[in-house]
Formats: sequence, structure tokens, C-alpha cells
Amino acid sequence: MEQLIPKYNVAGPRYTSYPTVPYWNDVFDYDTWEQTFRVSYQQHKNDGLSIYIHLPFCESMCTFCGCHKRITKNHEVEHPYVQSLLKEWSLYCKIFDEKPLVRELHLGGGTPTFFSAKNLEDLINGIFATARKAADCEMSFEGHPNNTTRQHLETLYTLGFRRVSFGVQDYSEKVQRAIHRIQPYQNVAKVTMLAREIGYTSISHDIIFGLPYQGVDNIVDTIEKTKTLAPDRIAFYSYAHVPWIKGNGQRGFRDEDIPNGEEKRVLYEIGKKLLQIYGYKEIGMDHFALPSDSLYKAWDNGRLHRNFMGYTTSNTKMLVGLGASAIGDSWYGFAQNSKNIEDYQQLLEWNQLPLFKGHILNQEDLILRQHIQNLMCRFETSWSGELYFHDIHSVIASLHEMQHDGLLVIDKNHLKVTPAGKAFVRNICMAFDLRMKRDAPETQLFSMTV
Ligand SMILES: C[S@@+](CC[C@H](N)C(=O)[O-])C[C@H]1O[C@@H](n2cnc3c(N)ncnc32)[C@H](O)[C@@H]1O
Repeated sequence: MEQLIPKYNVAGPRYTSYPTVPYWNDVFDYDTWEQTFRVSYQQHKNDGLSIYIHLPFCESMCTFCGCHKRITKNHEVEHPYVQSLLKEWSLYCKIFDEKPLVRELHLGGGTPTFFSAKNLEDLINGIFATARKAADCEMSFEGHPNNTTRQHLETLYTLGFRRVSFGVQDYSEKVQRAIHRIQPYQNVAKVTMLAREIGYTSISHDIIFGLPYQGVDNIVDTIEKTKTLAPDRIAFYSYAHVPWIKGNGQRGFRDEDIPNGEEKRVLYEIGKKLLQIYGYKEIGMDHFALPSDSLYKAWDNGRLHRNFMGYTTSNTKMLVGLGASAIGDSWYGFAQNSKNIEDYQQLLEWNQLPLFKGHILNQEDLILRQHIQNLMCRFETSWSGELYFHDIHSVIASLHEMQHDGLLVIDKNHLKVTPAGKAFVRNICMAFDLRMKRDAPETQLFSMTV
């Protein structure tokens, strides 16, 4: 492992989509995008669709955060933003021409719990006024432990939410100060226990390894504390250091204060070992779950799916992304909304979908996306039949070294990632990323793979 880390620690995508966002087509055509949604809806409407709603506001800046957000303490922004989201939803409903079946809905951010429970209730009721909710619809939200209230938890539970994920990151005060996110254990314990008491069946904690000043003792302490609260799922994220996107003045650390590749991998290995001792199963990349959780069950029966929301259990082909910077996936195309909140709202006032870029997948993209899904969700793939593509032989050739290093096994038309290779699944996916291979980036576009 010591030799593999420096060798394979390169900049690489996390593959929530293929092609990845920097490789989308330059020219984007709205009519074609709408058309792909129409076609896909006719094919997949019985499976239902997923909705991701981006709620971008946060009261304070966490300096590690790589998400699209706007820092403000002005809560007057809530109501007009909810109105914009509902307007956007009404434009999608025109494309569907009927009340669509919704199988999954996720509120992400930013900080969804920046919004009052009442405004969130208006939003969800507004969506379902023109949609059908599947009997097994999975509804989830991201809650900030410092501002999630009983009212949030109760209101969302009544609306059908059963999953909540709380951002924990790390319990060490020194690390928390550096990332400008002071959040004591008591706050996390309070909201976790409250959620459980109210009836949430899947509570998730986000933990990050590789944060500034984080050492082995911090990871051990964070996981020991996490264990006492027994969340059903744990996202154990690798810190994505992307300072070229998110520079800001409140950062309490220098680049030298971040653990290097090898130190970071040790944090991951120790964290993983502890989580496994405590009964968590590793699922795909970055994720752990108790065997009783639906994510583990989806993994176990091969139904795990990955999209812009990360790993999901609802295997829907269509994802409607609402809100500034949200990304939608019609299955045949991707499109991203304007990241600027004012532009987003202005376009909606003009009755336009507030998109600014996208990509229509060609035949090769569709096949490669399936291989990358297979690798990310099942750690194996096969290129016989429909998944054969012209350049497979050059892809196999580029995998030889990883095969030699024991990261994967290739047998005829089939590739299986070995246990040692799981940590390098992003590198293995990169071998299938023909768009990136054909047009290697000149500057760093992605975080490091380790
Ligand atoms: C949108 S954020 C958090 C939601 C909510 N605002 C909060 O702070 O609790 C969702 C999760 O993404 C993860 N995340 C954000 N930036 C990251 C980064 N640069 N590297 C790794 N994980 C990151 C964090 O674990 C975070 O809890």
C-alpha cells in the first residue's frame, strides 16, 4: 500500500456523472435537452423520477466546504427562493404533461435547515400538488446539527421524510476551528436522538478524513463518538481540497497543515477498520452502513445506483435538479442550472428553465457511463454484448499496470476490483474515461484520488 499511494494519488473525478462536468459539450441546446426529458419520460415514467432540490444558503462559512452556497443571515431570502423553486418545477411539469410519479426527493445544500420548517413545508406541498408520491418514496434532507430544530424534524417527518444526514466532519476542536465550524458532540447527539425519537429510520453522519490538523487520534475519537450515537449510515468522505474553486479569508489553515497522501490514507484505513469492527459494511466509495439500512440492502442485491446526489437506493433513470447550481439528468442528457442565485431567479421570471450548460450523451458516453456505474456501485463490469465499445482494447491495455499491482483481475470480458483495489476505484474508472483520456486537462480540475 505504501508504494501504491504515491503512484496512484493523482487528480481524478468522483464520478457522480459520466462524462464529468468539465467534459460536457461546449454547445448546449435547450430544445434538445427538453426533448431528451420527454423521450426518457415516456420510457421510464413507471419507474418514477428523483428530485434534487438545492437550498444554497448558509449562516456561516465552513472553510472546507466544496458545495455551492451563499453565506447570509438574512432569512428574507427564503420565501422568494421557494417561489422560484416551485416555478421551476411547474416548467418541468409542462414537459411531462401529467403529474409525474416521484420515487425519491432530496434536500441538499448549502443548509436546508437554514429555511424555516414552514417554508420547507410550503415547498414540499407545492411540489406534490402537481406530482404523485410513490408509496415507497425515499425522502431525505441534509441537516446542520447546529440549527436543525425539533420543528424541522417533526414537520419533515409528517411530510414523509424518513432519512436525514447530519454533517459531523470531525469532533476535534482544533480541526473544527481550522475549518470554521464549531460544533460540539452534544449538538450532534441532540439532533440524532431527536430524529430517532420522532421515527426517522435512516440517520446518516458525514465524517471527513484528511482535514487540516487531523491525526489518527482525531479519527479514532470521532469514530468512537459516532459509535455511541449508532447512525445507520456513515459517509466517510475524503477531504476534497479544491482551493482554486473556494478561496476565502476565514480559512484557519495553510495547505501544509493538510495531511499528505500517505498520512491521509492511514486515516482512512484506521477509520475503515474501526467502522467495520463496529458493524458497518463498506458500500461503494466513501460509504458505510449497518446491515439493517436500505443502502446496504441495495448494495447487497446489486441495485445500488449513483447519480449527482451520490449513492442512492432508488434506481430511477431521471433526476430533476431544482435550484441554483442543481444538475438534472434525463438519462440521455445532463444540464446544470445557473450558479448565481439572482440569474437563476431572473431566468425563471422570464419563464425559462434556468440552465446554463449541459451535455447530450452520445452512444459511446451511454456505454462508458454504464461501466463507470458498474465499477462505482458493484466494483465489477463486463463488456460483452451491449456494453462492448470500440476502444475496449486500449482501455484493457491501460489497466495492465493496475492488474499487475493487484488492484483488479481481468478475465475474458470481465473486470473485478480486488479488495486492495477498492481504495483506487476512481483510478480504475479513469481508464474508462475516454473523454478525459482524449483531452487531458492542462490545469488541475479534480481533487486527488487518495
Ligand atoms: C452540503 S454539505 C452539508 C450540509 C449542511 N450544510 C451541513 O453543513 O451540515 C454535505 C456534506 O458534504 C461534505 N463535504 C462538503 N465539502 C467537502 C469537501 N471539500 N470534501 C469532502 N466532503 C465535503 C460534508 O461532509 C458535508 O456534510
